[in-house]
Amino acid sequence: MAQNTTRVGLIGYGLIGSAVRDMIEKNPDNGMEVAFIHDQDASRLTDLGDLALEDLAGFDERGADLIVEMAHPAVTRAWGTKILQKTDYMFISVTALADRELEQAIDATSRKHGTRAYVPHGGVVGMDALLENRDVWESVDVVMKKAPKNVDCAAVGLDPNEIKEETVLYDGPTRGICPKFPRNVNTHASIAYAGIGFDRTHSLLIVNPAWTNAIVEIHAKGPGVELNVSRIESITGVTGASTPASIYNTVQMIGSTGPGIHLR
Ligand SMILES: NC(=O)c1ccc[n+]([C@@H]2O[C@H](COP(=O)([O-])OP(=O)(O)OC[C@H]3O[C@@H](n4cnc5c(N)ncnc54)[C@H](O)[C@@H]3O)[C@@H](O)[C@H]2O)c1
Repeated sequence: MAQNTTRVGLIGYGLIGSAVRDMIEKNPDNGMEVAFIHDQDASRLTDLGDLALEDLAGFDERGADLIVEMAHPAVTRAWGTKILQKTDYMFISVTALADRELEQAIDATSRKHGTRAYVPHGGVVGMDALLENRDVWESVDVVMKKAPKNVDCAAVGLDPNEIKEETVLYDGPTRGICPKFPRNVNTHASIAYAGIGFDRTHSLLIVNPAWTNAIVEIHAKGPGVELNVSRIESITGVTGASTPASIYNTVQMIGSTGPGIHLR
């Protein structure tokens, strides 16, 4: 049987974007190829030859079947609906969804144009269980613990280097934490979106300069059922060690046309 090729456009060529490109290209059986790579930092595109797309306005000419954002929530604000008018779009900077108007615009555009928007589970362990029981949960709590140097505090005007002891940076509904720490709390946003929503999910962000790992705990409770998940992992910049492989796995779930046995 002839195999179709899924063309994947990549936005953001940093830690995750470059790892995802490598994983797509290392596995020729998966039926995917990179259609373009865009980054706002032009110096990251210099060695990419024809794959480089300096101006994202030209995305439609590259014929991508799926475009994957791995850059910043600002990309979805500026380009999400434009992309969805033409093709499918996966965005990993999920904090963008805390903006109700943007969420509605993404949903409406995909319905009007017959395209699909995807949110990957990314750093969330157990998103399937949160989603499948979303009508059952009475409470969902997210606890995130990191060193201050791994938290981008620019939007709240804090210098992480000045934080010398254990400090609670946020304690409240998930909708409120997303604009304050847009590059750090994508797992909170995905948990909220999969489960009981941005207003009913509770987020706690604690930092301590003595911590070297990142910890995310999820505690969901409903009648007769309780879900408790904790992952402890090393972290580089704002990204936990397991995330690049997780993002590639979701790209593959959507785009791979390769043979074999596939877990869903
Ligand atoms: N969903 C998840 O579980 C999850 C987990 C970790 C990180 N993330 C998010 O993924 C994104 C990428 O993470 P990373 O560790 O690869 O970061 P990174 O800093 O290593 O790379 C980001 C790249 O995107 C580029 N960029 C930033 N803003 C841009 C814009 N507006 N337009 C085009 N390019 C832009 C930067 O120049 C950089 O090259 C971040 O937004 C991060 O918050 C999501």
